[in-house]
Amino acid sequence: TPENEPLAAGDILVYAQGDNKDKPISPADLKLGGPQTIAYPMNPKTNVVKGGDPNNTVLVVKLEPSRLSPATAKDAAGGIVAYSGVCKHLGCIVSNWEASTEDFVCPCHQGHYDPANGGKVVSGPPPKPIPQLPIKVENNQIIATAFFVAEPGKEV
Ligand code: FES
Repeated sequence: TPENEPLAAGDILVYAQGDNKDKPISPADLKLGGPQTIAYPMNPKTNVVKGGDPNNTVLVVKLEPSRLSPATAKDAAGGIVAYSGVCKHLGCIVSNWEASTEDFVCPCHQGHYDPANGGKVVSGPPPKPIPQLPIKVENNQIIATAFFVAEPGKEV
């Protein structure tokens, strides 16, 4: 079904949950320093939200641009960075946030990932970084410019 299609370049990031579910995320609504917003890609031609496949889950967070590593900054839009939301350990959604270190935290076994540095594993059991999603900001929307830099989903 169209809801299960993989994320593609050109997709618009929309809220996956909450009052604004299925509406495009406005860059101005992201709080500097997190926490992350959980998003799905929306096909810009059909407006179908691709929430049917968990591997389409995306984390969006706004950080101080100077904190980003050069490689991470290349795929960011200013300080806004996006990553796969699926933990590389056993596939939980990485929904928690550690404000003191600005890390994504997986609620299942406390895997920590660094969004300023390629999603690298800071601590916990995940075997690999969560892949970054290259994005741009256009017309006050956040748009994927390519697929994730590596395959999303739990490591098998
Ligand atoms: Fe995320 Fe285990 S599933 S740390």
